[in-house]
Amino acid sequence: MNANIVLLPGDGIGPEVVNEARLVLDAVAKLFGHSFSYSTHLLGGCAIDATGTAMPDATLKACQAADAVLLGAVGGPKWDDPQAKVRPEQGLLAIRKGLGLYANLRPVKAIPSLAKLSPLKPERVAGVDFIVIRELTGGLYFGQPKGRSTTPEGGEQAVDTLVYTDVEIRRIVRLAFELARNRRKLVTSIDKANVLESSRLWRKIAMEVGKEFPDVKLEHQLVDSAAMRLVTHAAQFDVIVTENMFGDILTDEAAVLAGSLGLLPSASLGAGKLGLYEPIHGSAPDIAGKGIANPTGTILSAAMLLRHSLGLEAEARAIEAAVSAAIDEGIHTGDLGAAKPVNTTQMGDAVRARLKR
Ligand code: NAD
Ligand code: IPM
Ligand code: MN
Repeated sequence: MNANIVLLPGDGIGPEVVNEARLVLDAVAKLFGHSFSYSTHLLGGCAIDATGTAMPDATLKACQAADAVLLGAVGGPKWDDPQAKVRPEQGLLAIRKGLGLYANLRPVKAIPSLAKLSPLKPERVAGVDFIVIRELTGGLYFGQPKGRSTTPEGGEQAVDTLVYTDVEIRRIVRLAFELARNRRKLVTSIDKANVLESSRLWRKIAMEVGKEFPDVKLEHQLVDSAAMRLVTHAAQFDVIVTENMFGDILTDEAAVLAGSLGLLPSASLGAGKLGLYEPIHGSAPDIAGKGIANPTGTILSAAMLLRHSLGLEAEARAIEAAVSAAIDEGIHTGDLGAAKPVNTTQMGDAVRARLKR
């Protein structure tokens, strides 16, 4: 098949990890007889430096015309002034919203051969295999009013608004149930319904949607105790569905179950086939430019791209199998705590060398 893939390397380690994933896609194309063409565009801090805006129009247009988008990460200390009017992260939010990508799928699977390296006891990590469906275009990130103003006393105040409509909740919860149907048939909806009105609406709609799926069990859990359960009994989870910011925070926590933040991929999906694929980690300014970042989260995001946007399931599995094989053989980047770590390129090479049809 022919496919047109937009690359948005972004900032920090973004270009380093996207490059490895692109080389993996090339290797898959060769092995399976596909032709992928790429175009690279600006997003984030690099776009601010070049154009003054975090998401140039040309970037959005290119993504809209593509079959899929692969993104590294955006942001960094250079653009972190809290008074700045433009921020790299605005570009990421704008591209998600601009492409209508409301569902962020973040699978979390413990790799048995990494259990001994985990900061958690092996029995806490054993059998962990769940997916978080994070709502991506609503909630505190986008609600209006948002901004800074002056208090009547002449001081400063700031506001962010957590708003969800029934339509936004219903479509994301429905997706969670559909996914659960093909898994272990358990949906855990995570909210803060004891305090937040938006969470009470979320819970009501989740119950309504649950009635459409009598074969799937629905449970509700408050976000604070869910955060604890993630490090005590995470193997109990199957499909988690939650609002934007809860999902953001809980998945970085969940990365510890997999072994490292550098391992987790994600897919951001909307109504059509077009999707945006990115690791869940950020631009890692502390290690950027050193060539030691773990490219695995981005490589596994490329596998999700093949699966969800191009319908190439066998090719996606080939990448996932190659990643598992390399990790099981003890080929680890430094973030996994290896005594003799490999670098970014060596990790990518190891995955490419293990790709099989
Ligand atoms: P981060 O995810 O960039 O880094 C957190 C820690 O994890 C760091 O110690 C980092 O070195 C490590 N790490 C992350 N990815 C790694 C990898 N692939 N290999 C090895 N180690 C890895 O989070 P942060 O430091 O809180 O944020 C840094 C910047 O990234 C901020 O500007 C933030 O806004 C941005 N950010 C962007 C995205 C995105 O573009 N999707 C996501 C999260 C954070
Ligand atoms: C992520 C990031 C982003 C988010 C930031 C950088 C806007 O943390 O992709 O997880 O919060 O969605
Ligand atoms: Mn995050």
